[in-house]
Amino acid sequence: MHGGIEHKTGVLFVCLGNICRSPMAEGAFRVAAQERGLAVLVDSAGTASYHLGHEPDPRAIAVARAHGIDIAGQSARQIDREDFYRFSHIIAMDRANLEALRSKAPRDGTARLAMLLDALEGRRGEPVADPYYGDAAAFEAAWQVISRGVEAWAEKLRREAAQQSA
Ligand code: 4NP
Repeated sequence: MHGGIEHKTGVLFVCLGNICRSPMAEGAFRVAAQERGLAVLVDSAGTASYHLGHEPDPRAIAVARAHGIDIAGQSARQIDREDFYRFSHIIAMDRANLEALRSKAPRDGTARLAMLLDALEGRRGEPVADPYYGDAAAFEAAWQVISRGVEAWAEKLRREAAQQSA
């Protein structure tokens, strides 16, 4: 269905605009996966189309950079039908994103849908608050919770990969 390297695992992070939360998650997860030697396809998308082709919000770029991660080269896109087959996991930032994914998912789509904080003990179903209308502190707070969430997902996927190869 798609060319190039076949990854057993693919993770797509999804928010509303694909310019704030999911680009930060994509950038942080790439590093977390690399640190664990996980071969995984990583991308992000929005449920809405307002910002197609835009780079991440300058405040998201700045907070990622402050934490040593470059997300400036990313470009916003909208979730599409193919994503529900290409990715093993599609991870939403909040409940509205998850509901939008459920309504767009093809009946035979193979991706598992979840929320970012589901991987954190005791925080299942909690949203990552949208920092778009907030200030730099809101972006820093979003980064903190997103980086904990992606670390937990990377650990979970690493354990699953280890079990599968055992
Ligand atoms: P994101 O933040 O979903 O984290 O990328 C937003 C970006 C743009 C808008 C809302 C949220 N907007 O309304 O344009």
